[in-house]
Amino acid sequence: MTVLVLGAGYIGAALIASHLQSGDRVVAMDNGFATDWDAIERLMDGGPAKLVRGDIRDVSSLASVISDAWPVRVVYLLAAQASANPDAATPEYTEETNLRGPRLVLEAVRDASRAAGSPPPPVVYGSSFHLYGPGLLGEIDEACPIGPQADLSHLSKVYAERLGEMHANRDGMTVVPVRLGIVYGIGPVTKRDFRFVTVPHAFALRRLGGLPVTVNPSGARPLAFCHLDDAVAALRLAPVGIAPGAFAPANAATEVLTVPEVLFRVDASAREFGVVVPDAGLGEPTASAGRFRVQSRLASVGWHPRRDVAGSMPGILRHYAGQPVSAPRSDAPNDLRRDT
Ligand SMILES: NC(=O)c1ccc[n+]([C@@H]2O[C@H](COP(=O)([O-])OP(=O)(O)OC[C@H]3O[C@@H](n4cnc5c(N)ncnc54)[C@H](O)[C@@H]3O)[C@@H](O)[C@H]2O)c1
Repeated sequence: MTVLVLGAGYIGAALIASHLQSGDRVVAMDNGFATDWDAIERLMDGGPAKLVRGDIRDVSSLASVISDAWPVRVVYLLAAQASANPDAATPEYTEETNLRGPRLVLEAVRDASRAAGSPPPPVVYGSSFHLYGPGLLGEIDEACPIGPQADLSHLSKVYAERLGEMHANRDGMTVVPVRLGIVYGIGPVTKRDFRFVTVPHAFALRRLGGLPVTVNPSGARPLAFCHLDDAVAALRLAPVGIAPGAFAPANAATEVLTVPEVLFRVDASAREFGVVVPDAGLGEPTASAGRFRVQSRLASVGWHPRRDVAGSMPGILRHYAGQPVSAPRSDAPNDLRRDT
């Protein structure tokens, strides 16, 4: 049985590597919109893997990749216009990929299963912890209501999750959205384009490049983070023990930090790395009063994340060191990128 990965970007590539390491056959599809094609090809080289260049907005590409992969054990839907940065894509591209794409994927998986006379494989969807909106307090588990959204990319998660719920209720599909915190850490496809990196990476690149660092005023709000390895583990565990035909969201966020707290960790690591970082003399930012805590149903199936931002920064800095960093095109505050 094959693992089908739609979207071989930052998270998809790490997931593919993890499945290949487990000896699984992987079929992956991406359209190259936000990921360097050579990097994806290198990843697939040598393993029991097939890489297809195709688009989730295209019904025939989907039918053909599903038939190549069949029988499929699990489908991961990670293809998306994932950035909140207005320079990343047109609103039309974000809508087409993030709204129409998931509908076509779910319909294609359903139709292939019906044609084969077999139950549909679970569809694990790359959702976002941002779904809960800002201003969170207390314990946030998967029953927490959905909150207001600030950009099309994150707003689309609300639609795609509801769509998955509809297909579970109506067509007996198993749909498992994984509500990922802001993901950081080095993987097989680590981006450095400011439009497509998360805030710990953006700060590391700016410090290494001697570029100015500014923090968006909304950065004082605590945000949820998740290391790439923990995100991959969560995606793999998310369908475990889920009854066929269920809609079962899962939180995958491990650490709650404000953006100034992230910057403090980046700077501490950068100094140890020998980077000259201006010191405002303010010391460690104080923990805000309104911090929330994340609960995940995945704890009951063996998800025990261990990584944190502070411990991961030396590796992130080492990875980027030596690579030239050019100024980003947007003049928006530099923590305002794809996922903050
Ligand atoms: N990285 C994070 O911090 C984070 C946090 C929460 C949720 N997520 C979600 O996880 C998923 C994966 O995120 P990522 O960080 O790997 O993003 P990414 O941009 O690195 O990967 C998405 C991949 O989808 C591909 N793609 C875009 N449009 C496509 C289309 N029409 N057809 C086929 N492929 C297409 C891109 O080329 C890219 O390789 C996204 O849904 C994202 O919203 C990511």
